[in-house]
Amino acid sequence: MRYFTNVHDLGDLRSALAEAFEIKKDRYKYETLGKHKTCLLIFFNNSLRTRLSTQKAARNLGMDVIVLDVNQGAWKLETERGVIMDGDKSEHLLEAIPVMASYCDIIGVRSFAHFENREDDYTEKILNQFIKYSGKPVFSMEAATGHPLQAFADLITIEEYKKKERPKVVLTWAPHPRALPQAVPNSFADWMNEADVDFVITHPEGYELDPKFVRGAKVEYNQLKAFEGADFIYAKNWACPGVTCPADYGKILSKDMSWTVDAAHMAVTNDAFFMHCLPVRRNMIVTDEVIEAPTSLVIPEAANREISATVVLKRMLEGLE
Ligand code: CP
Repeated sequence: MRYFTNVHDLGDLRSALAEAFEIKKDRYKYETLGKHKTCLLIFFNNSLRTRLSTQKAARNLGMDVIVLDVNQGAWKLETERGVIMDGDKSEHLLEAIPVMASYCDIIGVRSFAHFENREDDYTEKILNQFIKYSGKPVFSMEAATGHPLQAFADLITIEEYKKKERPKVVLTWAPHPRALPQAVPNSFADWMNEADVDFVITHPEGYELDPKFVRGAKVEYNQLKAFEGADFIYAKNWACPGVTCPADYGKILSKDMSWTVDAAHMAVTNDAFFMHCLPVRRNMIVTDEVIEAPTSLVIPEAANREISATVVLKRMLEGLE
């Protein structure tokens, strides 16, 4: 595997899941695969889970790891070509990428949506520059429009906890004080659409996700109706994706607290498991009671980030010439 940005890069999901469970049984099974190989993790944005789980995954495979926080200690990077660089940015991404690539074998990039220009975000302008100019395999550690390592970990978790062959999985919008990107819900939809689940998306009007990710999924605007009989509730906030009204891209259209996932919401489900990628704002997205219940999967889900990253890095190592 040369690049990992979406569900299709992984190929057959059944094989990927089988590989994930094989690694979960013995996460050091391939500990010599990455000997004398270096994984560079580049963060343009903050992280707890991705930072730790991806380092752990690389070390499971015997790799060396370099972590670079671009905004803490590196030169501030210009990303636009043609700009007269007389401001605070000392280095251009077009030099920085090949230089960074010369020190490593595989590159992970975290670069969130900027919400300044929808096209720039939805064409993955930063991530694609790494793909184009590094000459190295590149994987997304959450880019402008996708978070595939999270979605793979979510699928592994659903597979582990499901009580029926084809569970009902509901992705629900929930309120948040800040404008958040659509990377997590986009990728979750991307993966659920390929998985053997009955997938429903619910959100207030105006929050329609990009059709590229929604595809054939059912969209239900009545949140409680969507929750009826659900086996898994996946909560996440996202700012306006700008699908129905491009001028609203990146805006907060609602902070309606009736969308917060609480016990009354969970009561209409089929004793559903609660999921969230974390970090989560308690009593905005979900109540203390729901996230602390035995049916909350937020910790196993985060733990599975190590497994999803190990599978992806293993496949990238296997693809190196
Ligand atoms: N879920 C997730 O990606 O967490 P971090 O932002 O802490 O890495």
